[in-house]
Amino acid sequence: MLKKLSGTFAFLIAGTMVQAQAINSKQVFADAERQTRVMLTNVADARANKTELVAPRTLENGHLKLVASRDWTSGFFAGELWMLYAFTKKPEWKTKAEEFTALIEKEKFNGGTHDMGFKIYCSYGTGYQLTKDAAYKDVIIQSAKTLSTRFNPVVGCIRSWDHHKEQWGFPVIIDNMMNLELLFAATRLTGDSAFYKIAVSHANTTMNNHFRPDHSSYHVVDYDTATGKVVKKNTHQGYAHESAWARGQSWGLYGYTMCYRETKDPAYLKQAENIAAFMLHHPNLPADKIPYYDFNAPGIPNEPRDASAAAVLASGLLELSKYSKHKKEYLSVANTILQNLTKSYRSPIGENKGFLLLHSTGSKPHNSEVDVPLNYADYYYLEALLRWKKK
Ligand code: GLY
Repeated sequence: MLKKLSGTFAFLIAGTMVQAQAINSKQVFADAERQTRVMLTNVADARANKTELVAPRTLENGHLKLVASRDWTSGFFAGELWMLYAFTKKPEWKTKAEEFTALIEKEKFNGGTHDMGFKIYCSYGTGYQLTKDAAYKDVIIQSAKTLSTRFNPVVGCIRSWDHHKEQWGFPVIIDNMMNLELLFAATRLTGDSAFYKIAVSHANTTMNNHFRPDHSSYHVVDYDTATGKVVKKNTHQGYAHESAWARGQSWGLYGYTMCYRETKDPAYLKQAENIAAFMLHHPNLPADKIPYYDFNAPGIPNEPRDASAAAVLASGLLELSKYSKHKKEYLSVANTILQNLTKSYRSPIGENKGFLLLHSTGSKPHNSEVDVPLNYADYYYLEALLRWKKK
């Protein structure tokens, strides 16, 4: 029996009644508006003599780090501004969102990266959903054309990275699942099924090769372009090649849920449910459901958390709950994550240069961005809050 109480939700999971406070979205968004105004002031100061830098990414030794449009994270801040507009409908956020979105446009011709989806779909895509601006549609389509040039039909995947050529010949990373949303959108906008076919081929090849029997995934799979065969399976940003890097698991869950939305192929739904089962039932997932940076990090519980992995997980679970028979469990965990991010991982207003969330981890093995704010944690936190409200 699912009983809705005033101001609380009750879920029956494995025979246990779990009660959780409902998120006060209005208050959380009001706080996010105040904090983002702080960020806008800091960004304006930081960009004064460096206009090639377009978006805040993180804090480095307490200093605001901005990135150029070519950086994989350049679209998240514009996306956050669009989500503030989506929630509040205030013209001030639309104006700011348009300003920061425009700074990323030239990326539509950058064929040197698979991260086109992160950059263009989180900015132009989110803006297009709200405005139906024809110029945004053109940018989305051009970006999908550019991304498609990275598809190799022998491998059946889009090439992810061009760096570390000495290590991998044709690396495909689990994160790349997120960039397929741009391709599905381009087929809808043009009627050209070529983009859709590339996305499906990539998703199927990744499903075959990235996952272990327990449904955890490797981070990087390297392919031989002459034969299409797998050369090696690695984990670059997690603890070890055979470990489960937390954000990678979240990208997979979110990515296959999105692929199910776009195709209705039940194999993708099953895949997303299997990843959810691995993550949610893992003995190393803490009680607050904010993962350590890697499920197999050797020093747990004295290892850094990754709030970004939690935010992507919450947003993915909220969509997956619409399609799955495990709806109640997914809603309960998403609620727990959003409650805990809001209560214990948020920056006080006015501090941390205006970032919303603390305690994310970019790449622990490289000692890079450990226990810091990250713009993609903020982006998926706002997206999850919007999805929670719409639910
Ligand atoms: N896409 C890079 C990352 O998740 O760190």
